[in-house]
Amino acid sequence: MTAPSSARIYRGTPRNLARLARLLRAGELVAVPTETVYGLAANALDARACARIFTAKGRPASDPLIVHIHSLAQLAEVAEPNAAALRLAAKFWPGALTLVLPKKAAVPGIVSAGLPSVAVRMPSHPLFRRLLKLAGVPLAAPSANPFGYVSPTSAAHVRAGLGKKIRHILDGGPCTIGLESTIVDLRHPRAPRLLRPGAVTQAQLERVLGRPVRPAGQAAAKPAAAQLAPGLLARHYSPRTPVVLHQKLSTTAARRGPVDEAWVFLAKPRTLTAKNIFWLDAQGRLPGVARRLFHVLRLLDGMKFTRLHVELAPGAGLATAINDRLRRAAAK
Ligand code: TXA
Ligand code: MG
Repeated sequence: MTAPSSARIYRGTPRNLARLARLLRAGELVAVPTETVYGLAANALDARACARIFTAKGRPASDPLIVHIHSLAQLAEVAEPNAAALRLAAKFWPGALTLVLPKKAAVPGIVSAGLPSVAVRMPSHPLFRRLLKLAGVPLAAPSANPFGYVSPTSAAHVRAGLGKKIRHILDGGPCTIGLESTIVDLRHPRAPRLLRPGAVTQAQLERVLGRPVRPAGQAAAKPAAAQLAPGLLARHYSPRTPVVLHQKLSTTAARRGPVDEAWVFLAKPRTLTAKNIFWLDAQGRLPGVARRLFHVLRLLDGMKFTRLHVELAPGAGLATAINDRLRRAAAK
């Protein structure tokens, strides 16, 4: 099922970065590494370049993009920051936090799907930061996967999904966090809302803001509802193989289960090895689980299993983000 690819994978040499920055300024698409997941980047101030992102991904125009910036000076070019936003930025940027703020006119409507707000993030991945600096413009970038599929956490994942649609992929190694950024709506700074859980946790946000951060509510089943709170489509990040979630997986159940079904434990089971037994982190530590989750889902999706049984993560914090992605992967 490997489709011929026209995409070139670039190492992050100074020469390659200079070339990719030129291509971005000229309106081309470049897939980029970030600490969360790989993104598909275009000049955020160029409506035609951004339109190509939607085409390459097969993404509906109703789903807005995240604008990536290099500096706080650039934040003021694309959005209207408030005091709450600046506090979060000071604490968590560069990093895995996206802020939704009132949009400035310089950002074309296609980026925000026509909304008067814009989502902004300052990433920490050193290669992406260098590219942002060289490009000199903010870069709009959704995750670099065909719409609805599992987000990519390596250059090889990007090529497997979009290799026929794009030409340039910057390789920055495997993503260190492995889950998409936390998104906070700060349009109303006294009523911040958590639109997507991620590695920056609700408790961390509340500590810095000094007030509760309300989650945005249940994932929407219908696209119409998703547009009110974009990105909340229940089915998202989904492998093709059906996913069944378990509060706790037992080695007994796995041992007795059919061999054409895979069992994915958080930690390496001590007493069980078989071709259909997998784990996300040897010790079951959550940062490792998050880092490998999408890779393992993709790997198993490429095997011939009829079903993937996956164990939910215990507790709050990063577990909330991991379980959010698992529930989306399992949604019908
Ligand atoms: O970690 C990440 O955030 C990665 C890397 C590449 O930065 N990007 C990413 O983008 O996950 P994407 O397109 O897969 O998800 C972006 C989501 C949208 O689906 C939507 O939920 C939200 O960001 N979003 C963007 N603009 C918004 C806005 N103006 N209001 C509310 N939500 C917005
Ligand atoms: Mg995405």
